[in-house]
Amino acid sequence: MLDLARIRALLQSRVAGHTLPQEFYTDPDIFEFDLEAIHSRCWILAGLECELPSAGSYLAITIGRSPIVIVRDNDGTLRAFHNTCRHRGAQICEQGHGRKTRLVCPYHQWTYRLDGSLQAAARMQPSFDPSGLGLRPVPLENVAGSLYVCLADDPPRFDEFRDRLTPLLAPHHLADAKLAHESTLVERANWKLVMENARECYHCAARHPGLSVPFPVWRGSRLADSAIVERFEARMEAVGLSIGPVQGDWWQASRFPLNDGFMSLTPDGKPCVSKPMCQVAGGDVGSLRWALEPHSFCHALGEYVVMFSAMPTAPQETIVTCKWFVHKDAVEGVDYTLDGLTRLWNETNLQDRDLAENNQRGVNGRGYRPGPYSEEAEHLVIRLVDWYCAQAGRYLDDSAGRASKARPVSERKARLAS
Ligand code: FES
Ligand SMILES: [Fe+2]
Repeated sequence: MLDLARIRALLQSRVAGHTLPQEFYTDPDIFEFDLEAIHSRCWILAGLECELPSAGSYLAITIGRSPIVIVRDNDGTLRAFHNTCRHRGAQICEQGHGRKTRLVCPYHQWTYRLDGSLQAAARMQPSFDPSGLGLRPVPLENVAGSLYVCLADDPPRFDEFRDRLTPLLAPHHLADAKLAHESTLVERANWKLVMENARECYHCAARHPGLSVPFPVWRGSRLADSAIVERFEARMEAVGLSIGPVQGDWWQASRFPLNDGFMSLTPDGKPCVSKPMCQVAGGDVGSLRWALEPHSFCHALGEYVVMFSAMPTAPQETIVTCKWFVHKDAVEGVDYTLDGLTRLWNETNLQDRDLAENNQRGVNGRGYRPGPYSEEAEHLVIRLVDWYCAQAGRYLDDSAGRASKARPVSERKARLAS
């Protein structure tokens, strides 16, 4: 049982504008708390619709300790379910992608239709009723071809995110893409260190020499009033592309220009796929970045999309998944090479893994004390950490409310009187 009073006290000891107290990056109880209060209550970007190209396609991911599967039914409908068998709870679909006509549990072969209903369960007694034993549904949302799931019974409001992101994302035709490559890194660092690193480019000029060629590392993702930005805004307006920025409590999106003379986030700044996903302006559309707290960011370039997702697996372990998407008709070896497509982000992700692991080593030390963020260079980290603390505080308040209601009336009256 988590000691929520202790977590509340730690949260209250946090100094605004500073990194968190050590326990938030190291403590097994706070890791458990995070899974419950953060990752189980937020919208999580699962992937793109194009990862489920035909009837029976599925995409299985794990959020915290909960395996989830998204399935495309025969009529094209996408649904998400808990990937947990209603018999004795085995995981049904293996993590990753696949295609099946039925979802068959590998343990005792209970068989589910693509709509999640239970079709067959051998050797059960005559009184057995399969009707209430379909896979348990999970809320699923689709925004212009990007898929979001949420483990909460009452997910955060989604409509504003959908309304604001759709016009930005639609010109990139995500539904007509295909997954070209996926990489997985197991990082020995708490998820917050991984994500704090992912939310700033303070370190980029020194630690990402490759990314710094096309990426405007000095500005990070904050749009400055430079001549480059003004020219970009005018050019995007002329071709009818909106640039934002738009944001809500747990999300943000904006289209920003790359360094002058660079068209894509590739080692030489040239497009790495000959078939663009975005046809506007010949694909010279800067980068559309959208990001969700607590775990992801994406960049949609003219010719590819890269998705970054960090999932906590232990107090000091995080799995980082990176996916690259290209136009579905682009042929590897003809229209692009895997090396040309993936080199920049592979290199960047490995550099970031080393930074996060090094950060963890220092934070684990007895000498660690919360330090101040740069308001200019780390504003998105401040935003992430403020959001985390607010989310954690809401969870604690909700828990206190539930506990209070659960107490006997006599005890509640006595407390009120005291
Ligand atoms: S646990 Fe799935 S069939 Fe038994
Ligand atoms: Fe980085």
